[in-house]
Amino acid sequence: MTTSDAPEPHQEYDDDLTALLQAVWGEGFMSPGGSDEVDRVLEGLDLTGLAALDLGCGLGGATVHIARQYAVASIVGIDIEDNLIEACVELASRAELADNVQFLKVEPGPLPAADASLDMVFSKDAIIHIADKHALAGDIFRCLRPGGWFAASDWLAGYTGAPSPEMEAYIEAEGLDFGLASASVYEAALGAAGFVDIRVADRNPWYRHEARRERDNMKGSLYAGLESAVGTEFLERQIDVWDKMIIVLDQGELRPTHLRARKP
Ligand SMILES: C[S@@+](CC[C@H](N)C(=O)[O-])C[C@H]1O[C@@H](n2cnc3c(N)ncnc32)[C@H](O)[C@@H]1O
Repeated sequence: MTTSDAPEPHQEYDDDLTALLQAVWGEGFMSPGGSDEVDRVLEGLDLTGLAALDLGCGLGGATVHIARQYAVASIVGIDIEDNLIEACVELASRAELADNVQFLKVEPGPLPAADASLDMVFSKDAIIHIADKHALAGDIFRCLRPGGWFAASDWLAGYTGAPSPEMEAYIEAEGLDFGLASASVYEAALGAAGFVDIRVADRNPWYRHEARRERDNMKGSLYAGLESAVGTEFLERQIDVWDKMIIVLDQGELRPTHLRARKP
């Protein structure tokens, strides 16, 4: 196969976007709230000695935080983008974490884990990209040992029918491959897979305010640095995405949400 025949690597999160997201959300993070939000997702769970997987690990911030703070036996971060996995490996090596952390580039589809081999499947704001929530819930259930946990944050739809024009404008501005679903779809998918103790915690009230702070920082203290890193046009486009996102957060159509469920 010649170079020109080689398939283009999948890349939705390019260098400009990851630079901007990390400036807003912190090193290694492509979702809001940083390690505090990861801790909230995991609140009350004892992960000591457990085998975990981070689905859609992005730049590895959450994976590395869990490896450092939770004494897991192992955590495998998986993502579909080569450039992100490379960045994860660098982050883990800078953090001098090599033993209990591994990163894998995967193709979208079944998780790279044997049946009943994991104690926790964690995910932070990545399942939005996976359209079939029922298939995913079934696959997570398959990989977990009895007693294992699904603990995640994700961006959910606060509507069940058609999105409003404002929501459509936001989705288009993001330009990402979104598979938004409502909390009832997630709960039904987890329940149908066999999960019990399903818990759903709405983070919209927190993020409505946080997103304003992020947008104001982008327009203020972060502006000059971001402008030289990613250029004025890209930066202004992202500020516009935040403006549109704040509208749909206020309307309740975009609902960052924490999800928890246990395999009996
Ligand atoms: C919004 S980012 C969140 C990244 C990271 N969890 C964080 O909080 O910083 C979503 C991530 O999900 C990844 N992703 C999308 N579809 C995926 C799939 N089918 N399997 C694994 N990762 C996926 C994307 O490449 C991206 O890195």
